Amino acid sequence: MFSSEQLREKYFEFFKQRGHQIIPSASLIPEDDTTTLFIGSGMQPLVPYLMGKPHNLGKRLVNVQKSFRAEDIEEVGDSRHTTFFEMMGNWSLGDYFKKEQLNWVFEFLTKELKIDPQRLYVSVFRGNKDIGVDRDLESAVIWKDIFKKNNLSFKDVDFAEEKGMQDGRIFYYDEFKNWWSRSGIPAKMPKGEIGGPDSEIFYDLGAELKRHENSKYKNQPCHINCDCGRFVEIGNSVFIEYIRTDKGFEPLPQKNVDFGGGLERIAMVVQNKENIFKSDLFIDIIEKIQELSNLQYTDNQSAFEVIADHLRAATFIMGDDKGVVPANIEQGYIVRRLIRRAIRYGRQLNIQKPLWIQDISQVIINKYKTIYPELINNFDVIMDNLAQEEMKFSKTLEKGLKEFEKLFDTYQKDFKEFIIDENTLFDLYQTYGFPFELSIEEINKKRIQVGGIAISKQIEDNLLSLFREKIKKHQELSRTAAAGKFKGGLADKSEQTKKLHTACHLLLAALRKVLGEHVEQKGSNITAERLRFDFSHSEKMNKEQIKKTEEIVNKAIKDNLPIFFKEMTLTKAKQQGAIGVFDSRYGEKVKVYMIGKDDNLFSKEICGGPHMTNTGDLGHFKIIKEESSSSGIRRIKAILN
Ligand code: ALA
Repeated sequence: MFSSEQLREKYFEFFKQRGHQIIPSASLIPEDDTTTLFIGSGMQPLVPYLMGKPHNLGKRLVNVQKSFRAEDIEEVGDSRHTTFFEMMGNWSLGDYFKKEQLNWVFEFLTKELKIDPQRLYVSVFRGNKDIGVDRDLESAVIWKDIFKKNNLSFKDVDFAEEKGMQDGRIFYYDEFKNWWSRSGIPAKMPKGEIGGPDSEIFYDLGAELKRHENSKYKNQPCHINCDCGRFVEIGNSVFIEYIRTDKGFEPLPQKNVDFGGGLERIAMVVQNKENIFKSDLFIDIIEKIQELSNLQYTDNQSAFEVIADHLRAATFIMGDDKGVVPANIEQGYIVRRLIRRAIRYGRQLNIQKPLWIQDISQVIINKYKTIYPELINNFDVIMDNLAQEEMKFSKTLEKGLKEFEKLFDTYQKDFKEFIIDENTLFDLYQTYGFPFELSIEEINKKRIQVGGIAISKQIEDNLLSLFREKIKKHQELSRTAAAGKFKGGLADKSEQTKKLHTACHLLLAALRKVLGEHVEQKGSNITAERLRFDFSHSEKMNKEQIKKTEEIVNKAIKDNLPIFFKEMTLTKAKQQGAIGVFDSRYGEKVKVYMIGKDDNLFSKEICGGPHMTNTGDLGHFKIIKEESSSSGIRRIKAILN
């Protein structure tokens, strides 16, 4: 069993023996790269070399890169996601390609690290005619050969999403799973962006854990890309060989390999743990939280994981040589959010000690100081900013709580129905740094105090998406040098959010046509990348139904229908047959959004907005997932591209 320190060394040694030069981790803050706020993968600092610029250390490089992905913040707490992570990377800059890469990575994992090969599975790109990239049979053949040589089964199978494992070891997936670029799938790549198909390696944590059976995915087949947690991706070999141009995808002048393996996950696997927070990278941090809270990790898993992850990320960002301190915009905003979210979870665990976040940060620095000496060099900056942020936050929290009392006092209606709208939620957040979750908690506390019940999940979800919209708008206004940012950044997303929001209305109308009038919205959540839409329906949708729904939505988009709203009383809206979430928080008058011509409406829904003015601007609508959300409720994830 290896420590994480040994793991780093073994990786360097293995690739050094194969002609690679070690390069240090670049800063977490991008240099000549405006695409993201933080470095989110090892390839980012190397983009010029992947495009052909010669590197002074040659064509074979190896590193461990500090990385941060803000978009994973909500996933933290599921035992395998973190926002900050270290990415082990080996690079061929137009030198070796698939055969060497796949053989070496397998050898490294199974021979050097002694990972049980029986537990390894791989995925390769299924191919896509639209972009002119074929099925990656070359990788599949290489994998088969590797598995054969190691006396392992080697069946390759397709459509595991619908058919499950089918005794396969090699799985073909589409570009949502087996394509990599900084901006994601091919359709999202702007001109000049590079990327290519990839081949991922998964580790089977074991059916005996019954993760799938106990998860919300239990009615669907389990496969290596299932989100139930049984399989964890531990490495990805990207074959960066394309560039997006006016004409589509063209080959780059050189074929590159970009391997990325999460150090935390690989450490977890070699240390025989089923959770990254139980690996040696986190164990000291977790123990410190236990000591400060007097509570056990096992009883409070996600709160512990959020605290450990967020403070580790904040420590690394502030401790970077191009360090960032808490602020209200750009990277500083993310640091502030991380620290405040950690403090908030600390309150939940009832941690009382003043400046406790400093104690945890010191444990983190201690663990990493030899590998990342910048943490020691910037020790004072980290400590000072943590102290300041804790003070500021506790002051704003106090003020915010007072404000809450006032809101409650002025509430004229039935106290049991106490609620506040997204504008007030946003003010509380903006003026008092009051996070959304805390506001909801306070609202519920008040309601319960007077004998009422907590607000429904549905109302909470709706409020959350409205609240997020407001934040995004605000961020856009306050942002300075943000032009052209995409995935991982925060820029220019409110337009996309608005489009997705409008798409939700089209989707609901289409679902009612395809599945029936019983379909009602049960919640929604929109990020700049996708929409998530929950609705009442008791059966899994079949392929035809999904296709039909997409067709109806795309037809509505193609018809370039106008979108407008009218304000009316709730009673009138209901009388006129408007659908939507009826809730008193909208006040006496509600907005009814109509899509289509006045005499031939496609959709009519009560909603706060905002929306696009024409459906024609939405792009192409595609459902990427249809799954069960809870009993009698289905969930769709869809994108516009
Ligand atoms: N660049 C690839 C990734 O981040 C390796 O997954």
